[in-house]
Amino acid sequence: MKLNRENLYKLGLYEEILNRCNEGVNVIDNKGILIFVNQVSADYCDSTIDEMIGMPIEKFYPNAMLSYVLKNKNERLNEKIHYIGKKRYMCNSFPIYSDNEFLGAFSIFRDVQEIDDLNRKVKYLELQINLNKPEDNMSAVVDFGGTLNTVFNKAKKTVGSLGGPRHSIITGESGTGKTMLANLIYNYAKKIGVINKNAPFIEINCAQFTNPDIAAMEIFGSVEGAYTGSKLKKGLFEQANGGILFLDEAHTLENYQNMLLKAIESGKIRRIGDTKETSINVIIIAASTRNLHEVLLPELYQRLGQYEMYLPSLQERCFREKEQLFQYFIKKYESAVRMSHNIEYHVEFTDKAKQALLDAVYPRNVRQFRDIINFSIDSSSPLIEDVKGKKEITTVVDVEDIPFEIMERTDEAESEGSQRKSKIDEKASLIIDNLIEEGLGPRKISSELKSYGYDIEYYKVAYYLKNRVQ
Ligand SMILES: Nc1ncnc2c1ncn2[C@@H]1O[C@H](COP(=O)(O)OP(=O)(O)OP(=O)(O)O)[C@@H](O)[C@H]1O
Ligand SMILES: [Mg+2]
Repeated sequence: MKLNRENLYKLGLYEEILNRCNEGVNVIDNKGILIFVNQVSADYCDSTIDEMIGMPIEKFYPNAMLSYVLKNKNERLNEKIHYIGKKRYMCNSFPIYSDNEFLGAFSIFRDVQEIDDLNRKVKYLELQINLNKPEDNMSAVVDFGGTLNTVFNKAKKTVGSLGGPRHSIITGESGTGKTMLANLIYNYAKKIGVINKNAPFIEINCAQFTNPDIAAMEIFGSVEGAYTGSKLKKGLFEQANGGILFLDEAHTLENYQNMLLKAIESGKIRRIGDTKETSINVIIIAASTRNLHEVLLPELYQRLGQYEMYLPSLQERCFREKEQLFQYFIKKYESAVRMSHNIEYHVEFTDKAKQALLDAVYPRNVRQFRDIINFSIDSSSPLIEDVKGKKEITTVVDVEDIPFEIMERTDEAESEGSQRKSKIDEKASLIIDNLIEEGLGPRKISSELKSYGYDIEYYKVAYYLKNRVQ
C-alpha cells in the first residue's frame, strides 16, 4: 500500500502523530464537551484519554481558553500562561466552523514551565555573575587610604617597567584578592600594550592535581604514548604563550619545581615524552597563602619573586576601609539587580545590622565579607515574582537577615575577654524555652537572661526562636 494523505487518516496516523507531538491538543464540541485530547494533554491532567473524552473541558482545565472561544467564537492566540496546579503553558485556541455554523473549538498548548524555570535560572546566574565579577581595573578596587597603594605600584611595575615584564608572586590569606590582583595585572598589561588585546590568561590551581604525572602533562603537555593512554596535548604553559600563566596555590608545586625552573630559565618547554622543545613567552604570576620563600626551591623563588606583593587580611585593614568595602558591595548588588531585572534597587541597612556586619570577624576575608553582605541582602529582598512591573524598590536589611554563624564567631572573639556569655548555649536555650512558655517575648527574654549571666541581644533571641526545631 502506498502511503498518501487519505490513508493517513484511515490508518489512524493523524492521531498517532498528534499523540507524539510535544504540544497538547484539545478539541471540544459546541457544548464544551471534549471530543479529542492527545496524550500530552492527558498527561498534563494526570488522566487518560479515555477518561477525558465525553467530559466537559472545565473538569480538567478549570480556566480553559476554549471556554472563552466557546462563548465569543473568536480565536485567542498566544494567550499568556495559565496554571494547572503548578504548570504553565502558552495556548492558541481556534473556533471550528462549517458553512458558517459554529461546531466547536480546538486548542494547542505548549509547556513553558521548563522555559520559565530556565529563564529564572539564567537570570539568577546572570545576577550571580554580575555580583561576583572580578574588578577589571585598579581604580575600580576599594583601596581606602591607600592600603593597597604600594601593592598596586608594585603590580604595575611587574609588567610595566622599562626593563621588561617580570614574573611575580602574590601572597595573602584566602579571600584577600590574589586572583583579583592577578587579573588586574593582566588587564593593566593589555592596557599598556605589554601583551596584546587577545593575549591569554591561563589559571592553574596547582593543588588540584593529586597525581604528579598528570600534573606535568597538564602543565607541559604530552605526546601520544608518553604514558599509557596519553594523547597529543598542548599544555597550559603553551596555551598561555604570549600572555599570563597564573599559578594559584603555588606552594603545592613541589613535584615539578625543577621542570618549571628549567622552562623559565630557558624560555622553552618540552612536552612530556617529546624530544623537541618549543619556545614560549609567558609571564608567570604565582600566588599562595603560604610564604613561598620557605617552600619553593631557592632558584625558583629567586626567578619568580623579583616582585612579591602581600595582600593584607581584612583584620589588618582599617575600619574605614571595611566600611568602604561594605558600601562598595551594596552598590555592586544594586547595579547587578539593575542589569538583570531592570529595576532601580535601593538597599539600606539598619544601623544595628551595619554595625553587626562591620564588627564581625571574617576568617575568609574580603570574599566572605562580600558573601555575607550579599546573603543578607538576598534574605531581605522580595521575590522576583512579587516585584513584577515595578521600576523602583527599596529593601531594608535588618539584623535578622544576617546569617547567624558570623555573629557567633564575633561573639566568640568578644567573649574571650568578657565574663558574660553572649552565645546561646545549651543552658541558655533551656532558659529561653522556659521563658517563652511563660509568654515572654524576645526583648523581655533578652533582659531576663542578664540575671543568669548572659548578655544576648534580643534579635539573637528572636533569631534563635525562629530557627529552633519545634
Ligand atoms: N579591595 C577590593 N575591592 C573590591 N573587591 C575586592 C577587593 N579585594 C577583594 N575583592 C573581592 O573579593 C573577592 C575575593 O577575592 P579573590 O578571589 O581575588 O581572593 P583570593 O585571595 O584569590 O582567594 P583564594 O586564596 O581563596 O583564592 C573577589 O570577588 C574580589 O573581587
Ligand atoms: Mg584565588
